[in-house]
Amino acid sequence: MEISFLVLGVLALTSLAQGQDQSGFLSLDCGLPADASYSDPKTSLHYISDASFINSGVTKSISSEFSTNSIDRPLWYVRSFPKGSRNCYNVTTIADTKYLIKATFMYGNYDNLNQLPVFDLHIGPNKWVTVQILNASTPLVQEIIYDAPLKYTSVCLVNKNSGTPFISTLELRPLKNTTYVAQSGALALLNKRLDLGSITNQTVRYPDDVYDRLWHPFHLIQLTDISTNLTVDFGSHNDYQPPSIVMRSAVTQANSSNPLLVSIGDSVEYKTYQFYVYMHFAEIEKLEANQSRKFNISLNGTFWAGPIIPLYLYTITAYSGSAITGGNYDFSLFKVGGSTLPPLLNAIEVYYVVELLQSETSQADIDAIMEIKSTYGITRNWQGDPCAPQDYVWDGLSCSYNGTAPPIITSLNLSSSGLTGEIASDIANLKSLKSLDLSNNSLTGPVPDFLSQLASLKVLNMTGNRLTGTVPVDLLKRSQSGLLLLSVDGNPELCASDSCNDNKNKKYVVPVTVSVAALFVIVAAILLAICLKRRKKQAAVAGEMMEAQTRKTSDALESRKRQFTYSEVLEITNNFERVLGRGGFGSVYHGYLDDIEVAVKTVSPSSVQGYKEFQAEVKLLLRVHHKNLTSLVGYCEEANHLVLIYEYMANGDLKHHLSVDDPADILSWEGRLRIALGAAQGLEYLHNGCKPPIVHRDVKTTNILLDDKFQAKLADFGLSRNFAAEGDSHVTTTVAGTPGYLDPEYHVTNWLTEKSDVYSFGVVLLEIITSRPVIAKTADKIHLSTWVSSMLDKGDIKAIADPRLNVDFDINSLWKVTELAMACVSETSAERPTMSQVVMELNECLATEMARTREGRSPSYNSVEYMSVNLSAGLSPLAR
Ligand SMILES: *[C@@H]1O[C@H](CO)[C@@H](O)[C@H](O)[C@H]1NC(C)=O
Ligand SMILES: *[C@@H]1O[C@H](CO)[C@@H](O)[C@H](O)[C@H]1NC(C)=O
Ligand SMILES: *[C@@H]1O[C@H](CO)[C@@H](O)[C@H](O)[C@H]1NC(C)=O
Ligand SMILES: *[C@@H]1O[C@H](CO)[C@@H](O)[C@H](O)[C@H]1NC(C)=O
Ligand SMILES: *[C@@H]1O[C@H](CO)[C@@H](O)[C@H](O)[C@H]1NC(C)=O
Ligand SMILES: *[C@@H]1O[C@H](CO)[C@@H](O)[C@H](O)[C@H]1NC(C)=O
Ligand SMILES: *[C@@H]1O[C@H](CO)[C@@H](O)[C@H](O)[C@H]1NC(C)=O
Ligand SMILES: *[C@@H]1O[C@H](CO)[C@@H](O)[C@H](O)[C@H]1NC(C)=O
Ligand SMILES: *[C@@H]1O[C@H](CO)[C@@H](O)[C@H](O)[C@H]1NC(C)=O
Ligand SMILES: *[C@@H]1O[C@H](CO)[C@@H](O)[C@H](O)[C@H]1NC(C)=O
Repeated sequence: MEISFLVLGVLALTSLAQGQDQSGFLSLDCGLPADASYSDPKTSLHYISDASFINSGVTKSISSEFSTNSIDRPLWYVRSFPKGSRNCYNVTTIADTKYLIKATFMYGNYDNLNQLPVFDLHIGPNKWVTVQILNASTPLVQEIIYDAPLKYTSVCLVNKNSGTPFISTLELRPLKNTTYVAQSGALALLNKRLDLGSITNQTVRYPDDVYDRLWHPFHLIQLTDISTNLTVDFGSHNDYQPPSIVMRSAVTQANSSNPLLVSIGDSVEYKTYQFYVYMHFAEIEKLEANQSRKFNISLNGTFWAGPIIPLYLYTITAYSGSAITGGNYDFSLFKVGGSTLPPLLNAIEVYYVVELLQSETSQADIDAIMEIKSTYGITRNWQGDPCAPQDYVWDGLSCSYNGTAPPIITSLNLSSSGLTGEIASDIANLKSLKSLDLSNNSLTGPVPDFLSQLASLKVLNMTGNRLTGTVPVDLLKRSQSGLLLLSVDGNPELCASDSCNDNKNKKYVVPVTVSVAALFVIVAAILLAICLKRRKKQAAVAGEMMEAQTRKTSDALESRKRQFTYSEVLEITNNFERVLGRGGFGSVYHGYLDDIEVAVKTVSPSSVQGYKEFQAEVKLLLRVHHKNLTSLVGYCEEANHLVLIYEYMANGDLKHHLSVDDPADILSWEGRLRIALGAAQGLEYLHNGCKPPIVHRDVKTTNILLDDKFQAKLADFGLSRNFAAEGDSHVTTTVAGTPGYLDPEYHVTNWLTEKSDVYSFGVVLLEIITSRPVIAKTADKIHLSTWVSSMLDKGDIKAIADPRLNVDFDINSLWKVTELAMACVSETSAERPTMSQVVMELNECLATEMARTREGRSPSYNSVEYMSVNLSAGLSPLAR
């Protein structure tokens, strides 16, 4: 008994610790002596010295009158930057990861000047914010949510001649990349994150908040605070994971008829801002059977989100899917649908977009210049990005800029820099270098050959060094023909004339040739190996395809095996006894081939067009094998009789299953996702697994068949065409396909691409989601995609789903699939995803849905509500 009790206790502790570890966190106490570290007693966060992340600045501590016990330990020291216009931290990040980055500034009269400085903060090559210290004893915190593009990120303090920049702490916290998604730029926190109706009246952060966001207590005298003692969102179902202690309280109106008003404010400067707003809701009152809470949110009088029905002790987050702009940011939460209780709001965050228009310098150039910096031990102002922003280019560099493309280093001037040793080979990696000045240093050794690889080089100055040997022929030639301005004076032991090169060349000509030849052999061998390896890999990926091609070589034998006589066909179908269906150019019959059920498709012999298609289909089907494509068992071509024999698909076509009425037969959301994924994989195989790629040209729900295990298989290749067979133009002579599914771009241009299939597949996805006809049977004949898009504009995502699903699905996956479908039906093909992307997305959606059904989480509404808003917007009861 006691032992098991102990074990349970340990388990509980472990799981607690796992949910709250600091992995990925970087907590720098700026100015702390190098190598020192400690755990902050208040937060248990582990702070380390910033010394190894920056190589400039001086360390100071705040003045004794401020370092009272009420000031947190990480604020006792600061690092300040009296020298240099830009000083940068270089922190390691994981590329393509989203981070919450926090910088804290507590002046505390550390310099005894009693002057509050103003300076800029940059993130990478872009300006983040202007830091204006307003109160010597109040820490100022700046927060930004930033998708780190590279394996390190620089945070720079920039002097604006209004006081010396300084910093107290710099902290990085990795976030889930599904949260806080901005369409462009980074998201900087506006003012403060609010814990409405706060229970503790304390700022909440780590360990209560696993992401260490700061939540500030907020009360408003006109509003009623409510709270619960129970944990909210135990198990963290919501990706945003606002802390339970924050969600346990909320504000409401005392009079339930009154709306709850939230405004970002009408400051003039906000007019040009783009905002993202996150409102977190959880029901914290146990409702009686005759009580309900249901409300909508409007922005500036226009519907924004809703209806919102907070779930008891679960967090729902409503947020803008796109930036809110326009200068008037008044939200109103008002009850709807006979709700007996007033709207509530537990927490709110508002961010503004910081545009990141300037790219980092190209990675290759950064790597090369960093190597050169360390080889020669250069200090200067070489911090942060070498070329950006343009006002802070490193001394001695010039760069070329082209719109938003990464800048490129074009000139390097290291004249009179006390350089010793040989000429660094990394210079050859600055591929766009036009000018290189190494004059007046103490460089030794030869003039290396790799300098001649710099194709753009126009100026090369090596005057005044101690270089030896000869100047490479190529450089001399370019100099003689006026392509290169070459200066090598003042190197007593360097020979820069053709004559010494002549000698040298003769002497070495044989070994050089040999080694070049040897190199060539080695390179050839490596290339060969790579090709073989690639082939093998391709074969592994498209194994069935290879098999198909091998089969082609033994064509005669194989085709005879698959060819049937007409009398055999009569036997198989028992004289065409049972009709399965009628297609565009023939009928389909049921049959038995050695006890195996088959579908036999006859092609009307009268149609020449049909005959061509017959041949095309046979050729294709013989080549193509995939678990999501109907396989051809055999065919008959005899006199006027054209017949195809397929495997039998016991469950008919998808269209039928989307329109059934018997509740027992209605496809579940998971079932629908599986079918969509199967069909997508089949199509993806046609596009990418086949050479040349095959465009199906008639993707629709009646051409997606289901076998006895409800595995989806694409059928009817009758209209397919090989790209190669069409010649280079890809223009087909007739527009084929089914109305409603037809790519509008193809329809106009006759230009056939894989993206035409993607369009049709998007329409299929919309049918799978909605179970509605592709073209409405009403007078206006509105297309399904138009209807869905109008529902999306209203923010009514749930109304899109087939009502027979009874809202039994994960709202996230519904949202994602709808977005995917809408992307597929984009007017222009360039905006449509590829089938590979579609397969990836559907895979993720299916995984989400399976996780949900396995957990048996029934609430139809899940942790996160997604609401896409195209309106403008702003924030809340914020006193600015
Ligand atoms: C600075 O903040 C402190 C405490 O927050 C406050 O007491 C003081 O009045 C403020 N000083 C100024 C100049 O606003
Ligand atoms: C999030 O990260 C995962 C894995 O790192 C990646 O597959 C996915 O595409 C990312 N999602 C977004 C929205 O960036
Ligand atoms: C928090 O502040 C509010 C408003 O100032 C006050 O009514 C409440 O009693 C305070 N709560 C605690 C725990 O101090
Ligand atoms: C929470 O617990 C405290 C102390 O046990 C109690 O006084 C208070 O009434 C409880 N609050 C609610 C909302 O249940
Ligand atoms: C609540 O507000 C409505 C509209 O503002 C008003 O008609 C009603 O009398 C109010 N109820 C109470 C109890 O104050
Ligand atoms: C709801 O039911 C409770 C009893 O269960 C009753 O006291 C209360 O008046 C009812 N409220 C409303 C609005 O009907
Ligand atoms: C809000 O409404 C007012 C008038 O109704 C309008 O002038 C203003 O442009 C609107 N603002 C936004 C952001 O839509
Ligand atoms: C940042 O530090 C990493 C190693 O920690 C280094 O490879 C990289 O070149 C540095 N970048 C800059 C801009 O200093
Ligand atoms: C700038 O970039 C564009 C598009 O990437 C390219 O077409 C153009 O040639 C570039 N211009 C220069 C001067 O490199
Ligand atoms: C090369 O450098 C020397 C010394 O810095 C300078 O005097 C000379 O003008 C430079 N030559 C060229 C071609 O720039």
